[in-house]
Amino acid sequence: MYILGIESSCDETAAAVIKDGREIYSNIIASQIDIHKVYGGVVPEIASRHHLDGILPVIYESLSEADITLADLDGIAVTFAPGLVGALLVGVASAKGLALATGLPLYPVHHIAAHIAASFLLDQAPQTPFISLVVSGGHSHIIRVVSMTEYEILGSTRDDAAGEAFDKVARAVGLGYPGGPLIDQASTGGNPRAIRFPETDFGDGNFDYSFSGVKTAALNYLNQMEQYRSRKPELYEKYFNLADFCASFQFAITHALTRQLMEAAAAYPSEDIILAGGVAANRSLRTALEAACMETGRRFICPPPQLCTDNAAMVGALGYQLAIAGVEPATGRLDAIANLPIDIWAKNLKYLS
Ligand code: KG4
Ligand code: ZN
Repeated sequence: MYILGIESSCDETAAAVIKDGREIYSNIIASQIDIHKVYGGVVPEIASRHHLDGILPVIYESLSEADITLADLDGIAVTFAPGLVGALLVGVASAKGLALATGLPLYPVHHIAAHIAASFLLDQAPQTPFISLVVSGGHSHIIRVVSMTEYEILGSTRDDAAGEAFDKVARAVGLGYPGGPLIDQASTGGNPRAIRFPETDFGDGNFDYSFSGVKTAALNYLNQMEQYRSRKPELYEKYFNLADFCASFQFAITHALTRQLMEAAAAYPSEDIILAGGVAANRSLRTALEAACMETGRRFICPPPQLCTDNAAMVGALGYQLAIAGVEPATGRLDAIANLPIDIWAKNLKYLS
């Protein structure tokens, strides 16, 4: 079964052809990172306009690289929620047009579920039920995946997403955008214990996160260093070390992510642990979680970095899962939705047909 996946929820215009939910025939991504860099973050209106320019060339390229035609496809899967509504609309309108023209079934994909489904593209596919940590620029969720059409949110961030904290602190320290990979890089050789940043814990049995405290502490630290720089440069020279700062900030975030996830996992023994979303590309997080899983005898599954950040291969992989689960295809009424929790999406799949 060949599924064409289409993704346009934020700043990547992407299309991919996936065979049987596991094999990547093509995976084309037109990234807008360089365009948004100058603004220090994604500008929604600009993102929508670039998706419009990019979507059809990207779709054609994905078909030509896979060496198939529309007639060879068995279905189309498109991210319709959550995300920037104007950006999502471009992918949804294109997918609806293609489905209408070809008569192919159209599967309405949830972006977070797609990040989780990226793990099916690995040699060792996860076994449901499993526990997943989805960490991106907009989300930090611990989700129990009962099946690819049934999800239970065990915890989520009460304020900033982990990726958002990375991006804001990277901007403040002058590294640029997107912040996560730049902090990851700049932390190389730094001491993660050099600066003690606070971690939030909501107590036993509560698996929520909060990253606004660590973000504010990091910004305050930078303010203090800035004052040293202007008034007492010798103290700035003595105390400020970029690698130590990045390693310590990254440690506070990855330690909190790992601790809560492993506590949640302990409530559901013997399940696989899946790490997904853009922040899953972080080297320190991958290492910490891999070690924690090894210690507790769980299998750790995490896609390579290029399948962690936004792409359409994950959308095609989830489209296949929806098709084999017997989900009714969507109709021409399918619309983009900016905010839609994953469990509500799964429970309402039948109403999208
Ligand atoms: O999943 P994604 O590509 O887009 C969203 O759905 O948000 O995630 C983007 C986020 C950004 O905040 C980016 O800074 C972060 O993922 N990110 C990282 C790394 N690579 C990307 N964060 C930490 N370390 C990385 N290596
Ligand atoms: Zn994403």
